[in-house]
Amino acid sequence: MSKYYLTTPIYYVNATPHIGHAYTTIVADTIKRFRRMMGDEAYLTTGTDEHGQKVEKSAAAAGLTPREFTDRVSEAFRAEWNDLGLEYDFYRRTTDPRHAKAVRAIFSRCLANGAIYKDSYTGKYHIGDEAFVTDEEAEQADPAMITTVTEENYFFKLSAYRDKLIELYESQPDFVQPDSRRNEVLSFVRGGLKDLSISRSTLQWGIPLPNDPAHVFYVWFDALSTYMSAVGYGEEGEARKRWEKLWPVDVHLVGKEIVRFHAVYWPAFLMAAELPLPKQVWAHGLLIFQGGKMSKSKGNIVRARPIDKVVGIEGLRYYLLREIVFGQDGNFSFEALVGRYNSDLANGVGNLAGRTAAMIAKFHGGLVPAAGAGGDGGLQALAAETIEKAAARYAKFEFSRALEAIWSLFAAVDKYIVANKPWALAKAKDESSQAQLAATLYNSAAALRIGAALAHPVLPQASQKIWAMLGETVPLRDFRLADLAWGGLKPDVKLAGQDAIFPRLDVEKSVKRMEELEQEALKEQAAIFGKPAADEPAAITIDAPEVAFDDFVKIDMRVGLVKAAEKVAKSKKLLALTVDIGEAEPRSIVAGIAGAYAPEELVGRKVAIVANLKPRKMMGRMSQGMVVAASIDHGHPYLVSFLEDAPVGARLS
Ligand code: MSP
Repeated sequence: MSKYYLTTPIYYVNATPHIGHAYTTIVADTIKRFRRMMGDEAYLTTGTDEHGQKVEKSAAAAGLTPREFTDRVSEAFRAEWNDLGLEYDFYRRTTDPRHAKAVRAIFSRCLANGAIYKDSYTGKYHIGDEAFVTDEEAEQADPAMITTVTEENYFFKLSAYRDKLIELYESQPDFVQPDSRRNEVLSFVRGGLKDLSISRSTLQWGIPLPNDPAHVFYVWFDALSTYMSAVGYGEEGEARKRWEKLWPVDVHLVGKEIVRFHAVYWPAFLMAAELPLPKQVWAHGLLIFQGGKMSKSKGNIVRARPIDKVVGIEGLRYYLLREIVFGQDGNFSFEALVGRYNSDLANGVGNLAGRTAAMIAKFHGGLVPAAGAGGDGGLQALAAETIEKAAARYAKFEFSRALEAIWSLFAAVDKYIVANKPWALAKAKDESSQAQLAATLYNSAAALRIGAALAHPVLPQASQKIWAMLGETVPLRDFRLADLAWGGLKPDVKLAGQDAIFPRLDVEKSVKRMEELEQEALKEQAAIFGKPAADEPAAITIDAPEVAFDDFVKIDMRVGLVKAAEKVAKSKKLLALTVDIGEAEPRSIVAGIAGAYAPEELVGRKVAIVANLKPRKMMGRMSQGMVVAASIDHGHPYLVSFLEDAPVGARLS
């Protein structure tokens, strides 16, 4: 038995799970089940990517601390995979202290090997993507998202790994798959590599560098290390042994948009750390819905749970793996999903299973007959060929073609039944008709049994139901494909009764129901993110009286730095802040923001202060100014803050 270790990307916690995420996880689960049937000891890692500025911001927007926020969203991912029956072995969060150990250990090895240096860097920075971008990329981006940043960073000498990486892609042509992605990666690397900034000093929500804790790791160095930390790298004892057993990973399954990070950065980090490289990076395409890549900001999102409630998870699994050529982008549509379900699952395998059971019940008292001498219409040969084809195609991740082969077998069984007319054979009492009837019943059930076993990686539950119906007692998950053979179906086995495995669905009603459930899921998501449901916001009307400029400048607002913050006793709303605005003494300011911010989040943060507001007493404390925050109808407050490092005492005007 050999080990097989595979991974999904770890998902960002800035959105709740949608079927884009589910797609990768479903494929990974399918591969894992297939490898297990091939006799491998297969392990799957998934998890959540939880550090960075965007997470800090999303948490603040939800009125939560980053820890509370990431706990909630990470749990939502975990619950989603559990509910959908996706079997991961390791669920790693980047906020897990064991992970921090691994990241630091990998970094320390890179540092010791001279692959890290510190330098100052000025560049165009994309706030949304949290990344420095090229001038060209900056021009194409939303200008509001681009800013210029200069900071001291630690750099990874990526440029030094160009030749080694090319050698890797050339000596292992399937290191990056499919070929289209391999070519893309090769030409990117051939074009020359720039060194990579891997730390931030402007960010708090991250893992501090071991040699310089004022810096935290920039997301990719941190995130990629998960694949090793999840299985025990950086730890001692049993955990370490597990890492030794499972590493290197057999395949990193990723979406095509992150292939560069996995196929260029990650092997370079590992080369620098003198650690074994992954065997393969396999990039799939994106699910396109309503003309675009699903994204929360565009609102074109579909979630798996509403689909699960109407079509069932197996309907979704089958559709995604059959309809989309793995490696290419694919359109998702509710209508096509229900269409596939009806044609291939309800009318296809579901109907065949029901029909076979009914025939055996009616014509042979529910007992599988012996095959006897009747003709098999070529089914036995086709079944043997299908085992070969399906296994070879699964092994190459050609899921759609594997399923095509299996469903051709089911179709051949249907034809065979129709051609043999068992109902007519049953009426004719002669010996040869009886032999052909027995053969028809046995051969149909035998081929169904083989098709069901082969469909197991994609349809774990339905295949198991058919398997059990045919009298098999060893569950399919423990069954090895090497043992799958025609004679495996035992005569005289009593067929277990079988309800419809895939009841037919009304297309229009099902689509409508999924769309309704999707709306409900949207509200659940809003609950996780602590925001009101995304109803159309009412148009804002400005009804405050106009003021003259001379009146406006009477208000003196300054940039302040929060030095200390604490809750005001007996008040749910108030925080007492000590704010330095550059005067000889810092100000004491009471602010009604306790519902949205924890005191420890505010210390060290720059805020805007109204500095010439008449002092007033609040809950027994004197407040010498006001913190400026935005809100709708005095609801959730959002503190005014500065993207650049605005100097303390600077005046707002
Ligand atoms: N956190 C990083 C990955 C770090 S891995 C060390 C990230 N996260 S993500 O949540 O944005 O996306 C992760 C993966 O989800 C993608 O690579 C892809 O596998 C999957 N998908 C997200 N949206 C998708 C679609 N619309 N379609 C198909 N898969 C998509 O990137």
